[in-house]
Amino acid sequence: ESPKHNTEEKLEKVCHLLDQEISYFNWTGFYFKNGDKDELKLGPYVGAPTDHTIIPYGKGICGQVAVSNETFVVPDVNEESNYLSCSIDTKAEIVVPIFKDGKNIGQIDIDSHTIDPFTAEDRELLEWLCNEVSKIL
Ligand code: SME
Repeated sequence: ESPKHNTEEKLEKVCHLLDQEISYFNWTGFYFKNGDKDELKLGPYVGAPTDHTIIPYGKGICGQVAVSNETFVVPDVNEESNYLSCSIDTKAEIVVPIFKDGKNIGQIDIDSHTIDPFTAEDRELLEWLCNEVSKIL
């Protein structure tokens, strides 16, 4: 389900914080399951506007995480065949699923302009964060 207005403001703040604190996070946003449809809908984000406001399950890195239920770290997007390009500047991406009551209801998506930038600590931070975020959804 799409988050409520108040929740959207909080999620936008989370995006801004990550964007400000981690130099190689260059696009930070949330996608959520779009009602009953097997597709993701873009939620709050910080960064350049993207054409990918709706992503079918299975398509791109985001769509794959929607069905795999697992964090997907992509050190080099040019190595991925099932990838949806938002910007030619994007070199790497990490997508972490968000679970509510055991269901995969959305994700956080980070793009970087640097190749292979994401550390184990980034992954741990984002997985912790997604767990925290699920509590307000
Ligand atoms: N690159 C993503 C699409 C979303 S944009 O990065 C914001 C993908 O392959 O699913």
